[in-house]
Amino acid sequence: MTKKIYRLFPPPFEAVPLKGLYLQLNLHARGTPESPFIYANFVSSLDGRIALEDASGQTYLPKRLTSPEDFRLFLELECQADCLITHGGYLRALEAGKLGNILHIGQPDPGRDLPAWRSTHGLPPQPAVIVASASLDFPMPASIREHGQQCYIATGEKADPDRVAYWRGQGYEVIFAGSGKGVEGAALSRCLSERGYRSIYLIAGPRMLDTMVREGQLSCLFQTITHQLMGGKSFRSLMPGPELGAAGHLKLASLYYDPDSPAGAGQWFAQFESGSQGGAPQAVEEAG
Ligand SMILES: NC(=O)c1ccc[n+]([C@@H]2O[C@H](COP(=O)([O-])OP(=O)(O)OC[C@H]3O[C@@H](n4cnc5c(N)ncnc54)[C@H](OP(=O)(O)O)[C@@H]3O)[C@@H](O)[C@H]2O)c1
Repeated sequence: MTKKIYRLFPPPFEAVPLKGLYLQLNLHARGTPESPFIYANFVSSLDGRIALEDASGQTYLPKRLTSPEDFRLFLELECQADCLITHGGYLRALEAGKLGNILHIGQPDPGRDLPAWRSTHGLPPQPAVIVASASLDFPMPASIREHGQQCYIATGEKADPDRVAYWRGQGYEVIFAGSGKGVEGAALSRCLSERGYRSIYLIAGPRMLDTMVREGQLSCLFQTITHQLMGGKSFRSLMPGPELGAAGHLKLASLYYDPDSPAGAGQWFAQFESGSQGGAPQAVEEAG
């Protein structure tokens, strides 16, 4: 992929290669033992949709919301993580064949070069996987063990004890990171930090984003904003919870413009820093 896009912020305005754009951020080096660097990436439309709801009430990610460029950047962000946070809903969708498998570095094809980047930068071949779930009712894909990935299940203290026992019996460590049924942001962050994880990529949905942001645990939000008005009467946006106030204030760190994709429109790739976690923002340099 030799495609070029345009840097709008910070100055100067410049054409830069898309490939490698986010790898140069060195996110894997931003966290500390006390304060892991936790980041997320979402794609949204101009009217704020991240997913639509069909007539039966099921949510889905419309294909036209995504683009090959956004996916490449998603994979570059994943490549810099020592730990991924996914959730029970994703594993259910994966088993049902509704979503592709994004849990392993080097797959699928647009990320074939990324294992070499990890090796050069001192990261293990694959990140650990955390499955956040309140129900504990999900299938575990065999591919996680096949790739040698450490896998934990994170839930709340009031989770069903039979389900906890089931997963322990399957050889998984169950982390209690919340006083109710679900995971809480600060508790999860602390548990992962205690296990030595420093660069944590949240590849979960809006509810886990809300969980982390509300407790000041998100260091950085990457957002692709596709220049489309999606419409759709029932939809999902980034933050499903109540009004956030100052916890939702972010600072723009970089903004890039791709005028060509999706066809007939364009997209922005934005990076926002929260300032609450994971060290000072770094300057963005042009990809070499
Ligand atoms: N446009 C984008 O960038 C983007 C990104 C992500 C998702 N989406 C779309 O948005 C829609 C909704 O997202 P989603 O289904 O991925 O996620 P979601 O509705 O936010 O959450 C799904 C599952 O995550 C678990 N979970 C969430 N918060 C939790 C907490 N605090 N503690 C424990 N478990 C928690 C629960 O699993 P259990 O049921 O197992 O308890 C829950 O059912 C989907 O259509 C998805 O495709 C879009």
